[in-house]
Amino acid sequence: MEKRQELYAGKAKSVYTTDAPDLLVLEFRDDTSAFDGKRKEALARKGMVNNVFNAFIMERLEDAGIPTHFEKRLSNTESLVKKMQMIPVECVVRNIAAGGLVKRLGVEEGATLTPSTFELFLKDDDRGDPMINESLAETFGWATPEQLARMKELTFKVNHVLKQLFAGGDLLLVDYKLEFGLYDGKVILGDEFSPDGCRLWDAHTREKLDKDRFRQGLGGVIEAYEEVGRRIGVTFPEV
Ligand code: C5P
Repeated sequence: MEKRQELYAGKAKSVYTTDAPDLLVLEFRDDTSAFDGKRKEALARKGMVNNVFNAFIMERLEDAGIPTHFEKRLSNTESLVKKMQMIPVECVVRNIAAGGLVKRLGVEEGATLTPSTFELFLKDDDRGDPMINESLAETFGWATPEQLARMKELTFKVNHVLKQLFAGGDLLLVDYKLEFGLYDGKVILGDEFSPDGCRLWDAHTREKLDKDRFRQGLGGVIEAYEEVGRRIGVTFPEV
């Protein structure tokens, strides 16, 4: 597999073409950003930790029958993925109230949400990823009703698999964001699953072990990501 030119550089990952037309290389960088890119910092080891963590989770999801773009981990900071046509809609499931939900609706942080909620956001940094709904997605051509239904179904399947996986490490999966794309006309899971895109709390102390440590300036960000990984069986390489 030959890595060729950079196609796109996002806030924390870069995407490269390869000699295979339908495969791309994702490079996980140490860059960390929050508040729609307004706060940026490089955190040592973050690229490696998120790449190894994501590979572990994507393999668990594939094992559970959830189609993903993930092919294999290539190095400490790179993974091979299928080239998809991205759907510009973010799917968020919440099991416990936190973050944007608390801010928007004034509900108490930590309240259990029954049933778990499902929200859609438009992937648009310039507009701060506004909340949207099925009607807007259909009208503006961001996704068809059939694609949205499949995205919702897969997002809840991921919840079922990962709630159990994290519970095994005494962790609560509070909420998370997923992105999907089309490959061969089918909806498959794209992007990444790491503590950058979800909230994970210690089940007993409710200590935050995710990107909120960066957003809230709590420190120990990467140490928390590694702790979460170790608790669910991820082995990180020595660097
Ligand atoms: O900010 P909010 O509470 O809406 O985020 C819900 C979940 O989605 C959190 O786990 C957050 O880390 C994730 N998220 C994300 N990328 C975004 C927006 C939210 O990873 N652009």
